[in-house]
Amino acid sequence: MAILASQFPPFVHVQPTKADIPFVDLGVIDLSKYAEGPEGLPARLALAEELEEAVRTQGFFFIINHGYPQEKIDSLLALSQAILDLPQEVKEQHLAGSLRSDDDSFADPKKLGGERGAGFKPRKYWAMQRGVRDNIEHFNWRDLLHPALMHQHNYPPIVHEHLEEVAEYYRYLHFVVLRKLCVLFDIILEVDDGTTWKLLDVVENDPAQSGGGFGRAMLYHGMSAEDEEKTQGTWLRGHSDGSAVTFLTSQPMASLQFRDYHDGQWKFVGYKPGGLVVNVGDLLEFLTGSYFKSTIHRVVGPPADQRGHRRLGLIYFCDTKPGVYVDPESLNSPKLERLGYVRPPGWEKITTRQWAEFKGKSFGKAVVNGNEGDEPKPFYIAGRLAERWHQKV
Ligand SMILES: [Fe+2]
Repeated sequence: MAILASQFPPFVHVQPTKADIPFVDLGVIDLSKYAEGPEGLPARLALAEELEEAVRTQGFFFIINHGYPQEKIDSLLALSQAILDLPQEVKEQHLAGSLRSDDDSFADPKKLGGERGAGFKPRKYWAMQRGVRDNIEHFNWRDLLHPALMHQHNYPPIVHEHLEEVAEYYRYLHFVVLRKLCVLFDIILEVDDGTTWKLLDVVENDPAQSGGGFGRAMLYHGMSAEDEEKTQGTWLRGHSDGSAVTFLTSQPMASLQFRDYHDGQWKFVGYKPGGLVVNVGDLLEFLTGSYFKSTIHRVVGPPADQRGHRRLGLIYFCDTKPGVYVDPESLNSPKLERLGYVRPPGWEKITTRQWAEFKGKSFGKAVVNGNEGDEPKPFYIAGRLAERWHQKV
C-alpha cells in the first residue's frame, strides 16, 4: 500500500527575509468573511468592493482563510518535492513536452508542450537573456477535475498513487474558492449571479467542454552567479498568465515581482503564511475588455539571507471553457459597456482554446524571450499583445 503524502520528507521553506524590502501593498480577500444566502449579501458586497479595487488595478491579490487545511498543503508540497527529486532518467520518461521550448511546435494542438502538457518540464527548457536558459523544473497534472481521465496520463507510479490527494486540493480551489470569486465577479460586473461561473463550470470527464485547467508544482533551483549576472537577477522572465485566474501558494522567499499598475515599477509580492497569491490571467482580462488586469510578473533571485534555498509552490492555472469567446460580449456586462471596456477593434474574435494553444507555446521560445532587456519582445496573437502590462495613465 502506498504511503501517505504526509510521510514524505517535508519541503522546508527558507526563513522570511530580514532584508528591508518594500513589499507591495496588495489587496487581501479574507474568505472567512464570505457568507451565503440573502443575509450574507452585505458581506459579499463588501468583499466585492475590495476585490474590484485589486483586479482593476494591480491584477494581484492575496486570499487568506480559504479553508483548505495547511497540513494537507504541506503534505502536497512534500509529495511535490519527492516527485521533482525523482532520478533524472525517470523524469525524462515522463516529459510534458520536448527538452527545449523551440522544439515544441505550434502545429499540433494535441501536443501541449512543456508549459501546459502533463508531466515534467526539465531545466533549460526556456530561453532567457544572453544565451542563458532557466534553472526551473515543474510537474503538471492535467484533468484533475475529471475523475475518469486523471489517471490516463504518462505519470510515474508515485504520481498515480497520490493523485486523489492532489485532485482534492485542486477541486477545492475550483469548486469552493473560485466559485466564491465568481460570485464576487458577478457583483462587480453587475451581471446575474452565475454568469461568470457558467464560463468556468466543470463538465465532468469532458475536458473539451469543461472549465478548469491544470495543476503545477514549480521548483526553482536558483541560478549560478554567472548566469544571474547575464539575466540581471531574473530567474523567470516577465510574462502574463494565459489562464483566466491563477492561484499560487504563498511562499516566504522574496522572489515574485510584478509591474505595479500605479507607478510601473517592479514590486516584490510579500508573504502571507497559509495564504494564496491570486492573479488575473489573460482570459479574464479579455472577457472584461481589460477592466481586470492580467499583469506582467517575474521571479528574481532573493535577498542575500535567502540564498542557497530552493523555492517550491503549487499553482492552479484555471481556464474558461475551451469554446468560450474571450471578449466582453461573452459576459455582456452593462457596467463594462457603461465604462467603455469593450472589445478593441484590433482584437480578433477567438476562443479560450485558440488563445491557450498559442500563448502557452510562445513563452520561452527564443524569438520571444531571447532578447537582452527587461521585458520579452512584443509578440501578438490574434491582435492581442501576448505579454500584458498596464499602467495608470
Ligand atoms: Fe505566471
